[in-house]
Amino acid sequence: MVKKIVVLPGDGIGPEVTAQAVKVLKVIGEKYQLEFKFDYGLIGAEAIDKTGTALPEETLDKCKSAEAILLGAVGHPKFDNDPSAKVRPEQGLLKIRKSLGLFANIRPVQTYPLLYKTSPLKEELLKNVNFVVYRELTGGIYFGNKGRRNDGNTAFDDCIYSRDEITRIAKLAFEASMKRRKKLTLVDKANVLETSRLWREEIKRISIDYPEVSVDYLFVDAAAMKIVQSPASLDVVLTENMFGDILTDEASVLTGSIGMLPSASVGTRIALFEPIHGSYPQATGKNIANPFGTILSAAMLLDYLDLPIAANAIRQAIDKSLIEGKVTSDINPNNFVGTEEAGNWICSVIK
Ligand code: IPM
Ligand code: MN
Repeated sequence: MVKKIVVLPGDGIGPEVTAQAVKVLKVIGEKYQLEFKFDYGLIGAEAIDKTGTALPEETLDKCKSAEAILLGAVGHPKFDNDPSAKVRPEQGLLKIRKSLGLFANIRPVQTYPLLYKTSPLKEELLKNVNFVVYRELTGGIYFGNKGRRNDGNTAFDDCIYSRDEITRIAKLAFEASMKRRKKLTLVDKANVLETSRLWREEIKRISIDYPEVSVDYLFVDAAAMKIVQSPASLDVVLTENMFGDILTDEASVLTGSIGMLPSASVGTRIALFEPIHGSYPQATGKNIANPFGTILSAAMLLDYLDLPIAANAIRQAIDKSLIEGKVTSDINPNNFVGTEEAGNWICSVIK
């Protein structure tokens, strides 16, 4: 059966890294006799320049009829320092998440022994780090009412969560922990925020259905410390939208490079796969970006399509490239290959 994959390259290094992942998926298709059909769409700054909006209807329509979506990155510095900009590239990402109901963003964090030296943390802390963050993706402060009052002199962003929004991702996180080390950590700020207290209430209630899972609760400030002090103790981390955004950037430092981390955003119907890094505008077109986060996102996409053997072939090829040193300069500034070469190398290993 033909699997339709919509590719949204986006901005900055997005086109370069998604090109590598598409190449890899094509090789996977040949090797495992799978038929992928790739269709492309606009999102982010590129879409604003060409259509005036960060997520054109045409892109959204394409996505709705796809099996899965592979996204590069969005964001352009020309919007960042302009507080008066009416349209922003990031709106495209937020809108696609919301419109497609992608409420759970799954971000696995694992360290690779070969990259211990690349991480600023001590090696002994990096051993056996393997956890996954379940970040709520369509609620909270990102999507609450926002605006100005007081002739523009006061600004607000409301943080809102309903029980249903908490329950649906919590169930996914509990199910995930059943397949892992049966340990779930809720990260919140329940000593201050009412939304956090609702999260705790719901998690306590749901935990009754999962007696085998040991649940603990951490305030987000303490969680920020734990990620660098004893990351190996974490298994499944469940948290709201903004805390998850911040903590996963922090967690990527353990790996040695933010360029290594993939993610899956899932909902009721369709799923989207993207690296957790941003558009890295300074590197655009220089063939220096690390494509592994996107290639590993393609592996998560294959898992989602129920093709675990193909997914693992990608992961093994990544492991091999670390062993052989076929890595980009973020990983080894003294001996590196370009984005293209790294992608080609993964393809040849899989072949
Ligand atoms: C991410 C990004 C986005 C987010 C931005 C680009 C809106 O940082 O996917 O982590 O904050 O969710
Ligand atoms: Mn982020």
